[in-house]
Amino acid sequence: MSDAIATTLIAWFRQHGRDLPWRHTRDPYRILVSELMLQQTQVERVIPKYHAFLALFPDVYALAAAPTSAVITAWQGLGYNRRAIYLQRTAQAVVAQYNGEFPRDVAALRALPGIGDYTSGAIACFAFEHDVAFLDTNIRRVVLRVWSDPHGDIPDEKALRSLASMQVPAGQGWWWNQAIMELGAVTCTANKPKCPSCPLRGFCNDYAARLAADQALAPLPTRPARRVTERKDAPFVGSNRYIRGRIIDHLRQTPTGIDQPALASHLATLGLTIDEAKLTTIIAGLARDGLIHLDGTIIQLPA
Ligand code: ADE
Repeated sequence: MSDAIATTLIAWFRQHGRDLPWRHTRDPYRILVSELMLQQTQVERVIPKYHAFLALFPDVYALAAAPTSAVITAWQGLGYNRRAIYLQRTAQAVVAQYNGEFPRDVAALRALPGIGDYTSGAIACFAFEHDVAFLDTNIRRVVLRVWSDPHGDIPDEKALRSLASMQVPAGQGWWWNQAIMELGAVTCTANKPKCPSCPLRGFCNDYAARLAADQALAPLPTRPARRVTERKDAPFVGSNRYIRGRIIDHLRQTPTGIDQPALASHLATLGLTIDEAKLTTIIAGLARDGLIHLDGTIIQLPA
């Protein structure tokens, strides 16, 4: 993982992430309920259902002991009723096998009824703050865009999961996964992703490739390469400093010196038309600085 990416994404999430009820708990039961509801229903619709469900079945014991009909009734409006059945079976297994305490590692969670790769990872991370990677549609899309090779084959599930695992910052898995999920939900969306406001724009392979492709289609006007020897602090053409430089250049070529009208004529050939009073001031300044010597009307380099 890259510290810069993790820091950037998590900072963005802290500032812009939505305030969602399941982000305020580390109770694995509540997180399981939220995750199963969110697998089939939009966040806005889940929020009231989540509160209502937990009011009816506040913990794993209550859900395990409830009539299944009551669980199905409570699931109304949330889609697949089979999920409600699995949810209750999971609660019953946690009570029967683990005395009501959810196991903490991914493999044991994965062995519970109806809990797959995604849900076991989400519980391990969002309840127990384990630094694990897991993929849902949002995370999968972000991982694919940001870290896979846009010119290569689309990685399979195993490769994507491995890419995702490499990014999880040590000790910050909870923040990381919430943040990446949020980014996929609100910014790195399937259609019309909001790349200009994406915190990962500067790290994203897909963005870079699309930018390069756009430029290939409509090349920028070619500009002369900046001269390597050009100094960053080169004086602005026409500035006093620039004129002083041209005067000294010319005096190097004219060891016997030159008077002011001849100097003015020379500067005019360089495109520098300077009124007499201004040139007098510049010459006086050069003399004061010891860069030239004035002998009567003759201007020359100091001996
Ligand atoms: N969808 C699934 N899990 C989520 C979460 N923790 N936050 C927002 N959306 C989600």
